Amino acid sequence: MAAVNLIEATAVPTGQAAEVVANGRIFAVFNVDGQFRVIDGICPHAGGPLGKGMLRGNIVTCPWHGWQFNVESGHHCLNQRLCQKTYDSRVENNQVVIDLE
Ligand code: FES
Repeated sequence: MAAVNLIEATAVPTGQAAEVVANGRIFAVFNVDGQFRVIDGICPHAGGPLGKGMLRGNIVTCPWHGWQFNVESGHHCLNQRLCQKTYDSRVENNQVVIDLE
């Protein structure tokens, strides 16, 4: 496991989202009431940028065609068989950090 710094925590205020490229992958970072949530940033519908979607509560809406995902569980809101990969995150030295294999 390698710790990967994604973004400064203060760069993602409560209720906001960010798209981050790290280790050759695209991640979507969300601040849900002060808790950072990280999911695979590529929408499984057609590759839209989930990190540029609108966050409301713990639900993000893809900016391309409106698919919605729970950023805590990764589940699509209408089709539970669709699930984005989620990553456990923590804040260290004002960085949102995840562990990658
Ligand atoms: S690419 Fe995300 S809803 Fe179509």
